[in-house]
Amino acid sequence: MKIIEVENVSKSFSDRKVLDSVSFTIEKETICGLIGRNGSGKTVLMKCICGFLTPDSGSIRIRGRLQNRKQDVSGNMGIIIESPGFLENESAYGNLLYLARLRGLIGKSEVKEAIRQAGLSPDDHKKVKKYSMGMRQRLGIAQAIMEKPDILLLDEPMNGLDEQGVTDMRTLFLSLKENGVTILLASHNTEDIALLCDNVYRIDGGKIHI
Ligand SMILES: Nc1ncnc2c1ncn2[C@@H]1O[C@H](COP(=O)(O)OP(=O)(O)OP(=O)(O)O)[C@@H](O)[C@H]1O
Ligand SMILES: [Mg+2]
Repeated sequence: MKIIEVENVSKSFSDRKVLDSVSFTIEKETICGLIGRNGSGKTVLMKCICGFLTPDSGSIRIRGRLQNRKQDVSGNMGIIIESPGFLENESAYGNLLYLARLRGLIGKSEVKEAIRQAGLSPDDHKKVKKYSMGMRQRLGIAQAIMEKPDILLLDEPMNGLDEQGVTDMRTLFLSLKENGVTILLASHNTEDIALLCDNVYRIDGGKIHI
């Protein structure tokens, strides 16, 4: 089953056409890799898929439903795009509980579970302002997975992670896939792409290549 369908999507910024009639699909319960040079449009494409950006033309369907201004279909989607903002004077648990309560879909136990899954401790009272880059990245991953989304958009999720962190997150992403999650993964790391992805798309010159 195709869970994400991108059809003829174009997106320009002033005179620069970043996405030029891009079409591709992602099968449910797969990990799909997105590669391409700096500035090739990976992040812009992900932002279009989750509804942060509106394409100039073309269509995006999530689970068969059209993504557009009138209806946000990205409800059950976990996202890491660029560095997420956190409350600097709160702990990891404090931050994610705050976000969870804003949406009202999950409670304390799910928040704690996600923090553990990302390799942090819900009992650690350290404030986020004292976090290293890798710890922040792990917290971003915890945030993305805490509501148990069935689609994850991961833009360079391994940024700042040490070797153990990378190994842990590879295991986590593969186990999420085994449990029915579909992942779109943008990465410059060929090893992550080779180990994790069922198929890979490359963006170059605004076009997508298989
Ligand atoms: N909001 C914006 N306004 C204007 N130009 C933008 C905007 N967002 C992205 N761009 C441009 O779109 C192009 C693609 O950017 P994008 O961030 O998608 O690249 P990328 O493939 O994710 O690169 P990287 O590998 O460095 O993350 C770049 O030329 C960028 O300058
Ligand atoms: Mg990018």
